[in-house]
Amino acid sequence: MSASTVLEVSHLSKSYVRGYEEVHAVQRAQFSLRNGELVALIGPSGSGKTTLLNLLMGWEPPDAGEILWESGEALTRTSQWSQLAMVPQTLGLLEELTIRENVALPTRLGEHGVAEQRLCNILDSLGLVQLQDRLPGEVSLGEQQRAAVARALILSPVLLIADEPTGHQDEVWARGVFRALLDACHSGTTCLVATHNEEALTYADRVLTMEDGRLTDAAAPSSHTEVSG
Ligand SMILES: Nc1ncnc2c1ncn2[C@@H]1O[C@H](COP(=O)(O)OP(=O)(O)OP(=O)(O)O)[C@@H](O)[C@H]1O
Ligand SMILES: [Mg+2]
Repeated sequence: MSASTVLEVSHLSKSYVRGYEEVHAVQRAQFSLRNGELVALIGPSGSGKTTLLNLLMGWEPPDAGEILWESGEALTRTSQWSQLAMVPQTLGLLEELTIRENVALPTRLGEHGVAEQRLCNILDSLGLVQLQDRLPGEVSLGEQQRAAVARALILSPVLLIADEPTGHQDEVWARGVFRALLDACHSGTTCLVATHNEEALTYADRVLTMEDGRLTDAAAPSSHTEVSG
C-alpha cells in the first residue's frame, strides 16, 4: 500500500438470495482510495453502489474479499471509528434529537471535543443555522439530508462515504453539498460519493462506474474544480 493510500479493497463480493434467484450485487470489486481525493461512484439504479458502500462501512459482511485500512488493519476492525463517517441513503437522523444535536452526535459518542465554532461553521455552510433547534420531522427532506452530511463532516473523518448525498437537494444546494465535501477533501478527508448527479463528475478527481455489480475505474475528469454559485 502506498503512503497516500487510505483504503484498499480487493476482490470484494456480495450476493443476495431472493427466492430461487441469486443477485450478484457486488462482484470482485477492486480499487484503492488516496488521501484527500473525491471519488464519484456512479452507475444505474440497482447496480450495487449502496451494497458496496455498506460493505465498506461494515454494515454487511462480504462473501469474499478484503478491505484494508491505511494502517493495514481490516477496515471493520479498526479502533479508529471516528476516522470513518457515512451519509446513508436513508439518512438515519435520530427523530428525538434536534438538528443541532444530530449534527453534534458523533462528538458526544466518542467524547471527542469539537469547538463550538466548528459546529457553527458546519451548520452555516449547509444552511442549517435557522433550523438547528427543530426536530428532523419539522424540516424538509433536503434539510434532513444536509444535516446528515454535516453530522458526517463534524469530526473531519479520514474517510467519508456518502450515498447519494444530493438526492434530495435542489441544484443550488447540490452544489453547496459538493462544496462542503470538497472543503473536507482540501483538509485531507477522502470522500467516496455514490451519486446520480452528473454535475458531481465535474467535482470528482476520479470516477468509479458500477454496472451489474462490476466496477470499472474510469479516467479522472479533472483535478478539483472550483464550485461556484
Ligand atoms: N437485502 C437485499 N436482499 C436482496 N437483494 C438486495 C438486497 N439489497 C440489495 N439487493 C439487490 O442488489 C442489487 C444492488 O442493489 P443496491 O441497493 O446496491 O443498488 P444501487 O446501485 O445502490 O441502486 P440505487 O441507485 O437505486 O440506490 C439490486 O439488484 C438490489 O435489488
Ligand atoms: Mg443505492
